[in-house]
Amino acid sequence: MHPPVPPRLADLAANLPWVNYVPVVDPDLSDRSRAYARILKNPLSWWPEMGMLLVGQHRLVRDMLANHKDFSSRESVPFNFAGRSPAVTAELEKLPDYGELMITADGERHRQLRKPYGDGFTHRRVTSREPLMRSRFAELIEGFRLDGQVELHDGYAVPGLRPVVNSFVGYGDTEREEKVVDRMCWATNVMLQPPSLVDEYDQLEAVGAWRAAHRYITRLMAQRRRELPADNRDLLYDLVHSFMSDAEVFWHACLTRVAGEQTTRYLLLDVIEVLITEGLWQQAVCADEEPREQLLDAVIEETLRAGSPSLRSGSQHAGLVRITTGWVEYGGQRLPPNTPVMFMSAVANLDETVYPDPHAIVLNRPNVREHMGFGWGIHRCLGALMARTEVRVAVEALLRSLPTPRLAQTEPDPVAHLLFNGHNTLRISW
Ligand code: HEM
Repeated sequence: MHPPVPPRLADLAANLPWVNYVPVVDPDLSDRSRAYARILKNPLSWWPEMGMLLVGQHRLVRDMLANHKDFSSRESVPFNFAGRSPAVTAELEKLPDYGELMITADGERHRQLRKPYGDGFTHRRVTSREPLMRSRFAELIEGFRLDGQVELHDGYAVPGLRPVVNSFVGYGDTEREEKVVDRMCWATNVMLQPPSLVDEYDQLEAVGAWRAAHRYITRLMAQRRRELPADNRDLLYDLVHSFMSDAEVFWHACLTRVAGEQTTRYLLLDVIEVLITEGLWQQAVCADEEPREQLLDAVIEETLRAGSPSLRSGSQHAGLVRITTGWVEYGGQRLPPNTPVMFMSAVANLDETVYPDPHAIVLNRPNVREHMGFGWGIHRCLGALMARTEVRVAVEALLRSLPTPRLAQTEPDPVAHLLFNGHNTLRISW
């Protein structure tokens, strides 16, 4: 059963093909690529489970992301789902209001909010984290090299990427601090799902985890106001010294950690899988430094476009929501004001009119960088350089130590999430 179509969208919904698609619910996961093919077939579809439109054709997705005047981002992080219970709402009210975030802001306000992030994502700041990345990945490999096998999600990607993105944002590295931050990310994922699909108990736990994170980040903010961090300037330092209020700094620090770790983790696993299944691992092991770096860059980009071959579910970021600001002609329809539309970047990346043989990994496609994996337009991902660098460094470390790994997992283990595609596990042996 899905919710009734809102009356103001009833005519539109009646005119469009309907696509059933609930990636949060396990049995539907196997059907994800079928849903993607259906979304691609028509300019617009109606998504009954979420009461919104779906768009997946590459040109339409790009036009929408480039047109932030007609398509607002104000609902792009949908914490505001109606239908929370009074108990959850009462708990949420104890947290500072998240107001307008960079990712939900439009126009001039977005430009203002993105400015303090400017220094944080420069080439210099990202490369300053490379020594930390190298030592962390080398240490993890030393721990499993003699075992002949490893599960890479929990054994490599999570413990390898977590300290890097934590140090980048400004979180501490004690076990206790990591736990608070991990729980905050778990909570954010819970609260990003429609309340009808999440247990009330989990929602209450999630708000509790956010409140613990809020106390912790408030302490960090006070520290950053007093002093520069010992080793490197971090994002928290930049944000507390900008015009942002404490509430804005808290929510931006929270969302940047979620945005920065989860997708990169899925990308790393997908890239490893592509290198092994496409027979590129050996080539990378044998290559000199420069051609190896070029090969890895090409594999990373193509994997950002297509995802991994065995999962066949598309790139790591599934899509996000925009909402019309007035009447707008789009995809052959006239959309009324306040129409929510989910742009499916993962679907656009599989559009065969732009990428022939879209499910195949083809290195150096001339237009690969036009993929929508990092979005498009004013909200285009700020962490793209960071993600590409982390994944390259993590893979290089493995190439140095494991000359002939094999996949040791026959079934894909896809994540159940509305916004992300990826694996929960990836087992390899050697
Ligand atoms: C493979 C890894 C990544 C993928 C696929 C990805 C994907 C995306 C996408 C699609 C957007 C656009 C959202 C929109 O249009 O509303 C975005 C924005 C953003 N990403 Fe990433 N991201 C990745 C890694 C990172 C990392 C490592 C960081 C930071 C440490 C980061 C921080 C951000 C931020 C702050 C924004 C908001 C930009 C804005 O609203 O102006 N991302 N990302």
